[in-house]
Amino acid sequence: MPDLSHLFEQNRLWSEQMRAEDPAFFERLAKLQSPEYLWIGCSDSRVPANQITGLLPGEVFVHRNVANIVVHSDLNLLSVLQFAVDVLRVKHILVVGHYGCGGVKAAHDNLRLGLVDNWLRHIQDVRQKHTQLLDACADVKERIDRLCELNVIEQVLNVSHTTVLQEAWGRGQEVAVHGWIFGLTDGLTRDLHITINGQAALQETYAAALAELETFTPGAPFVPAAA
Ligand code: CO
Repeated sequence: MPDLSHLFEQNRLWSEQMRAEDPAFFERLAKLQSPEYLWIGCSDSRVPANQITGLLPGEVFVHRNVANIVVHSDLNLLSVLQFAVDVLRVKHILVVGHYGCGGVKAAHDNLRLGLVDNWLRHIQDVRQKHTQLLDACADVKERIDRLCELNVIEQVLNVSHTTVLQEAWGRGQEVAVHGWIFGLTDGLTRDLHITINGQAALQETYAAALAELETFTPGAPFVPAAA
């Protein structure tokens, strides 16, 4: 058996450190979770939701799968989404992709990896839908970065089209769906400016986000807006 004792040791130290900072932390946490955010991200080990956003346990509800894809028949994702929206009543749903995504690259390159190819087929659909935008890219790296961005935008749309969001908005619940992309090389997150908070402006926001993509180089370093 491989020795995993270091993980238990690290866990013990972490628990001690948390309690040193806030003695009642776990007691409070055990009683209630009321996160404001649902994170839908890639399973990639380099993109951990809590660390990237500096959020504590209890502050973000998380769903991750290969290449952060939202499929309308995925009972796992739909259950997470429904619980987050209807029961936890999260205010923000963050669909977070990342540059250098292996799933997106595999889909782009038509790699044959096995069962996962069927999952990644959804990204090939995105690629096919946006041939023009992708063909405008200077090289393969840019094409893959752009496909990572487009994948986020399409998944934001997919979340917005679920019965869960449609019904929540229908009854006047305040919940917004956002599209972000994370850079592995600088650890920074870029807002792709697709924030959907109701049925009304859905198509306009989607079209504007696509138009904005053309104004910056795919995967370009993030420049924070002036305060
Ligand atoms: Co990925």
